[in-house]
Amino acid sequence: MNSKELTEALEGMQYPGISRTLGELNLISSAKVTDNRAKIELLTVSDDSYLTLRSALEERFSGSFSALDISKKQLAQKDSNYGSAAQPNNRAPYTKNVIAVTSGKGGVGKSTVSVNLAIALAQKGYKVGLLDADVYGPNIPRMTQTDLERIKWNDDNQIIPSENYGLKIMSVALTTPTMDTPLVWRSSVAVSALLQFLEDVAWGELDFMVIDMPPGTGDIQLTMAEELPITAAVLVTTPQTVSTDDVSRAIMMFKDIKVPMAGIVENMSHFIAPDTGTRYDIFGSGGGKRIANKYKIPMLGQIPLDMQIREGSDQGLPPVAKGTDKQKEYYRSIVTNMLNNIDFN
Ligand SMILES: Nc1ncnc2c1ncn2[C@@H]1O[C@H](COP(=O)(O)OP(=O)(O)O)[C@@H](O)[C@H]1O
Ligand SMILES: [Mg+2]
Repeated sequence: MNSKELTEALEGMQYPGISRTLGELNLISSAKVTDNRAKIELLTVSDDSYLTLRSALEERFSGSFSALDISKKQLAQKDSNYGSAAQPNNRAPYTKNVIAVTSGKGGVGKSTVSVNLAIALAQKGYKVGLLDADVYGPNIPRMTQTDLERIKWNDDNQIIPSENYGLKIMSVALTTPTMDTPLVWRSSVAVSALLQFLEDVAWGELDFMVIDMPPGTGDIQLTMAEELPITAAVLVTTPQTVSTDDVSRAIMMFKDIKVPMAGIVENMSHFIAPDTGTRYDIFGSGGGKRIANKYKIPMLGQIPLDMQIREGSDQGLPPVAKGTDKQKEYYRSIVTNMLNNIDFN
């Protein structure tokens, strides 16, 4: 077996226990064969998934080579902060993990993905909070049918979060007189409102806090990375936005501020005709995969452009809770892949 054959065999191999190949999950950093000795470098963030993969590879390939050297490529870890060596603060000690859902541009489905990933985590039995940090386009309340609620306080002077679909939910949209009141805030004001949501909301104990971040790379993203130990970021793209500068900038920023990337979700990736079931790659295919390869970030999954996903989301009926089995599976498999890729508590 030469290097090319080994790479192909690795890419086609199934990840133990899930129906995705190592190639699809982008878990191979490099594979080389010299003098019948194989050297494989894996691209995993968590130790668990590294050990699982290593033993699967040893079982499969140890008979094929005279030596098999499997190692893990070191990815950015959450051990330093943007522009300084200090640990990030922790304004949310009540949560074990923080997942930041991000995108280069708006309108790519970041909020839809945040809501459905959060619900999928809750469906797995985790205690989950969902914080709408997209202060200039807060649409989590509409998507979770909490838009008619207004802010309430408990006896300890803490804000009571809304609850639905097994989530605790907080959004600036709950603080304005009506849902569609536009917020005209300087970013410093937006940042302090978010810090208040981290500190003054009665979240209780959480396993995961999922944050729907604003698109792009501004003050709010940097502040969140400084004020919270972000376990991992999930980057949402569409095939049209995949190769834009905004996506590269978002990836570079998270690398710079040493927030590990759990992976990329390609949303609205293709269209399946509801009548015939035919798949149309309207915007071309494989964009998410290309960017995953380029930046050595795992691919977590693709979600098709599906009219029911739009209708359900806009009516506050999230597909992972109220959709078809197939729609549920898109989000659940992304969560499974994400948990395989990150070191979480
Ligand atoms: N996979 C999908 N198929 C069809 N419509 C979608 C899909 N994902 C999101 N949408 C719709 O696209 C619009 C933008 O999504 P949203 O999550 O609000 O994006 P963002 O938060 O990035 O601005 C919404 O109307 C939403 O319902
Ligand atoms: Mg949004």
